[in-house]
This record gives sequence, structure tokens and C-alpha cells, in this order.
Amino acid sequence: STFSHVRGLGFHVPERLYTNADLEKIVDTNDEWITSRTGIKQRHVVENETCLDLAHGASVKALADAGMDAEELTHVIVATFTGDMPVPATSCLLLERLGIKNIAAMDLSAACSGFVYAIEVARALINLDPAAKILICGAEIVTSRVNWEDRTTCVLFGDGAGAAVLTAGTEGEPGKVIDTLVRADGGPGMNLTVKGGGSAYPYKLGQTVGAENFVEMQGREIYRFAVRSMTAICNEILAKHGLCAGDIDVLLPHQANLRIIEAVGKKLGVEREKVFVNVDKYGNTSAASIPIGLADAKESGFIKPGDLVLLTTFGGGLTWGATLIRF
Ligand code: ACO
Repeated sequence: STFSHVRGLGFHVPERLYTNADLEKIVDTNDEWITSRTGIKQRHVVENETCLDLAHGASVKALADAGMDAEELTHVIVATFTGDMPVPATSCLLLERLGIKNIAAMDLSAACSGFVYAIEVARALINLDPAAKILICGAEIVTSRVNWEDRTTCVLFGDGAGAAVLTAGTEGEPGKVIDTLVRADGGPGMNLTVKGGGSAYPYKLGQTVGAENFVEMQGREIYRFAVRSMTAICNEILAKHGLCAGDIDVLLPHQANLRIIEAVGKKLGVEREKVFVNVDKYGNTSAASIPIGLADAKESGFIKPGDLVLLTTFGGGLTWGATLIRF
């Protein structure tokens, strides 16, 4: 089979910052609570930008990093649950913004796991046609779906986008996607919801907006699920390739909560200094978290040439997954 390679990475976040002190003015919370429970110190929040603006910013950087023109692309996939509008898909809007057309475009809905799902879809498409050149983007304005009166959720999230370009490659070339595993279990799915606007919870003219329009979450259940599912899928992908925790140079878990990230690293037996963390700067950006993390880690030198990187994610659905990449 043809292997997919990561050719370029980029991320883009809105300028406006909300620090924990800023949130103290919005809800009954404090820096000590947020820092000790989540590790988050600040998050970027859009002012006028839309999901498309963030997706475009990240995509332009990823294409430049890959040394490619948008015209070369054959597919664009945007992972998001906060696209500009239900129709058209944000991926179609992104084609237009990039000045390209007559290629495939689709949005992918797997909440926070969306980007890792997009890697899996891109791998399959590249296997189908080794000439495919695929832009995958995780772009999210989670704050548009945050209930700013609910202190148990609003402190956790931020906005941003990250993107990668994947093409076929040959053995030994950097950026090789060794494998991806993605999973879902709808059973516990209602522990993490955004219901409003779906056809089971349709908008009605003149209706006031209720809490069901925003992220609702059983935090404790999600916490336990996150640690359990990411640890299990990482062990599975390592075992499948005859690898152990000691072979991993960088562990990059979904940036939802520092305690979850550290618990997964510890359970896997990956040394703390190999675990990438930027949740302190960006909060939980859902599908954008993994590609922002990848681009940030690459740019800052946390990921070095030759490193074996293990990505792992979890999110609404419930969904989860892991990817192994040799940079
Ligand atoms: N500021 C101050 N106090 C707060 C806040 C806040 N922002 N939020 C909750 N509290 C209070 C609660 O009301 C509760 O008070 P009580 O005991 O008087 O009722 C107390 O703090 C403790 O709350 P717990 O729920 O016990 O706190 P916990 O230690 O479980 O941490 C947290 C909560 C951070 C949400 C944790 O459960 C968690 O991280 N869960 C996973 C969340 C997550 O990662 N979600 C990902 C979403 S999926 C996706 O990525 C889209």
C-alpha cells in the first residue's frame, strides 16, 4: 500500500486573548481553580473572524510549509463542528477563498477527534490514488457553542485552526504516517453534546436560545473516558507495530486538560519531558487541537527531524483515535 506523508503544517489563532482573569469577570471562577483543574492559563477567542477565516489562515501556512500551491490540491477536508454554516460546507467555502475549484471538498464531523479521522480518510484516498494531494484542516470556533453562563464548561475552550498537507511518499522520506486507528462508541455519546440546531432539536422562528444550543458535558465521565480510551488506543497502535513507550520521541495528546494529558503519559510510561503541552496557551480547540499542537511542536523544535510522534485524541461521539508519524 502507498504511504501518506505530512508535507506541511500550519496553524492560525485569532488575536484576542481571554486570560483566566478575564473569565473571572464573566463567571464565578478564578485563576487558581482553572489552573489546578485544567492547566489552562489563556485561550484565543474570535472577535469578528469566522471558522473559514481561521481555516484559511492555517491552510495558507501549511501550503507554504509544504512548498505547494493551492492549485495542486485534489481534496480539501475540514474537520469541524462549528463551521460557518450548515450549508455550504466550510470546505467548499475554503476552496473559494483559496481560489481553487473542481476538486473534492467535504466537512468531517467527529468533534475533537475530527483531525485524526481526517488523517485516516486522507490515507485511504491516497491509497486509492497515489497522485492525490490532500489538505486537511481542523478549524473550530468552539466559543460560538459555549454557554458563557456555565462556569463548568466555558473556561475550558478556545478558538483556532491547524492544517496539514498529505501526499504519497516513499520509504525513508520524512513525515511518514505509519498508521492511524480511529474508533467510536455512541453508547456514552450523550455525555458530551451540542444539540441545538440539529433536526432533533430544530430552531424555531422567534424561539429564545436555550442551553441545549451549547456544549453540555458530564465532566467526570468524559475525564475518565478520555484517560481510558487514549491510553488503550496508544497501547494498541504501539503493540500493532511492535513498539513500546520507550520508542516514542513525542507524545501529543488532544489538548483538553493538563491532568488528562499527564495521566495518559504516565499510564503509557512516556517520560514527562516527551509529552507535548500547549493547552495552557490555547485551551481546548476541539478538532484544531491536534494540528495546532503538531504545527506548534514542529515550529518550536519540540518535534525534531527523525522523531517518532504518537498523536492521540478523544471527543464527542464519543470518538477517539491515535496516529503514528515518523518526522
Ligand atoms: N470555577 C470555579 N469553580 C468551578 C468551576 C469554575 N470554572 N467549574 C466548576 N466549579 C466547581 C463545581 O461547581 C464544583 O463545586 P461543588 O463541589 O460545590 O459542586 C467544584 O468546582 C468541583 O467540580 P468538579 O466537577 O468536581 O471538578 P473536576 O475536578 O471534575 O474538574 C473538569 C472539572 C475540569 C471539567 C474535569 O472534569 C474535566 O476536565 N473533565 C473533562 C473535560 C474535557 O476534557 N472535556 C473535553 C470536551 S470534549 C471536546 O474536546 C469537545
